Amino acid sequence: MAGEGRSVRANAFAKINLTLRVIPAGPGRPTRADGYHELRTVFQSIRLHDVLTVTAVPGPLRIECDDPACPIDRSNLVWRAAEELWALDRRRGAPRDARVVIRKRIPVQAGLGGGSSDAAAALRAFRAFWSLRLSDDRLRDLAVRLGADVPYFLLGGTALGVGRGDVLFPLPDAPLEWIVIALPDFGVSTREAFAWFDSAARQATRARRRLGTSKKGAARISWLPASEQLNDLEEPVSRHKPDIARIVKRLRRAGAIHAAMSGAGSAVFGLFQTRVDAQSACRRLSQPGWSALATRTIGGTAYRSHSCPVPGRASCRIAFEHV
Ligand code: C5P
Repeated sequence: MAGEGRSVRANAFAKINLTLRVIPAGPGRPTRADGYHELRTVFQSIRLHDVLTVTAVPGPLRIECDDPACPIDRSNLVWRAAEELWALDRRRGAPRDARVVIRKRIPVQAGLGGGSSDAAAALRAFRAFWSLRLSDDRLRDLAVRLGADVPYFLLGGTALGVGRGDVLFPLPDAPLEWIVIALPDFGVSTREAFAWFDSAARQATRARRRLGTSKKGAARISWLPASEQLNDLEEPVSRHKPDIARIVKRLRRAGAIHAAMSGAGSAVFGLFQTRVDAQSACRRLSQPGWSALATRTIGGTAYRSHSCPVPGRASCRIAFEHV
């Protein structure tokens, strides 16, 4: 296209939460002073990814995306990432002379971290695009400001997240697994999922019952304690969106070693030992209103090398199973 200049491309991988525990901030205090919930979660990167391409195009900053469900205005964290770096570089006014094309493959509002991963990829891509001398630590500070999950996407692999999910401890890479991601035809807002958790927790307190005790985690992932193999948001979200519990059950029946909702939903993941098992589960999941895809986990080292920005355009073919 006339007037276009150089470009930088970065992959943005999705995550699942192998476990997600919500911890009361104190006696009778469900949330922290900043309104966030205290979490203990194990993040795991998967190969499903978006691709961001930043290209030099004269004029105001512009975002284009092939998924109409993805916002292309300032509410997109990619925009905010660009603004943060622009301001940090002491440039005047709003960011300009750049166009970001997002090839969206991570479903939105699915609990797979698509928006946060795009934001982390944008931080990396704009740092390279504008040749900013900015340490990884400074980039992490910006990531924290953009959202609770964004810092994880600067790290990747298997990691324990505490605090808002933004205080991270890298863990040894979990064994490679085949993953089925199953989706109903609706998304879930993270804010709403936590509000449903709070109201379920209040009801449970009145009934003198602990939330989640009816569905104890079973020891399915060998390296994680059984008590941790649980997503505390799954039960309250399933009360409002019963399809989630149905999909979890269907994945278990299809032979998943472990199946649970990811993050605040609406995606549900199932772990499988072989590609054939994962693909056959995908077929068993197909029914009107549900969709499923097979992908794999990705380790920390591969994650970091494949999410490094490279010069280029968004012309690469994306396969869900392969980087
Ligand atoms: O940080 P982020 O904007 O991604 O979070 C979206 C919303 O999810 C927050 O505004 C908050 O309502 C909820 N949240 C929470 N506790 C967390 C993470 C998110 O309550 N640890």
